[in-house]
Amino acid sequence: MSFLEMLDVLNNGLIEKGEEPVVFDHDCREGICGACSLQINGEPHGPDRLITTCQLHMRKFNDGDTIVIEPFRAKAFPVIKDLMVDRNAFERIQQAGGYISVNTSGNTIDANAIPIDKHDADESFNAAACIGCGACVAACKNASAMLFTSAKVSQFALLPQGRVEATRRVLNMVEQMDKEGFGNCTNTGACEVECPKGISLENIARMNREYLSASLKG
Ligand code: SF4
Ligand code: FES
Repeated sequence: MSFLEMLDVLNNGLIEKGEEPVVFDHDCREGICGACSLQINGEPHGPDRLITTCQLHMRKFNDGDTIVIEPFRAKAFPVIKDLMVDRNAFERIQQAGGYISVNTSGNTIDANAIPIDKHDADESFNAAACIGCGACVAACKNASAMLFTSAKVSQFALLPQGRVEATRRVLNMVEQMDKEGFGNCTNTGACEVECPKGISLENIARMNREYLSASLKG
């Protein structure tokens, strides 16, 4: 059974006994939505690599093991109840610049009309794989959101469609990230190790370059 199915069984047992079930977050159960964010035996999304908690299976553990489950811990992710945290800080970072403006008045340019270097397209796609789960923050001793924010900045920075608002985007998203109370990056790299989508630290370096050049322009 999957890890979340194990929690379902636990909760069914608690409900049958008239006790309160344990609150935990989940939605797709397919590694897409990023909702199932749990700290399992001290690791975000548990002991496996490149998977989310909903993709973790109980065969990863031995019979009789004690499993310690905690909510993701960070000042910017307040605990709502039990294992569920409020990750709306990520939504507010996205709202600060994680979008592009497209003319939809009937003059929309076909995306394929703009040639894009294959390497840039691949890198942009890799950055866009971030599901906003927050494991990078939970893994970081500084509770930094640099990996998440840099993935969101990078996915647009690498494409011509994203360059139009690039200066404003990186300044606004970093400002919001700081406002939310996330810590700074000290290049520990725990975020990259624990990220279920393999988001690379190169995105942080790219965001720092974008930020520096945007600051000089600003
Ligand atoms: S960078 Fe990785 S760990 Fe961080 S929010 Fe995105 S998918 Fe989750
Ligand atoms: S429930 Fe959606 S990623 Fe796990």
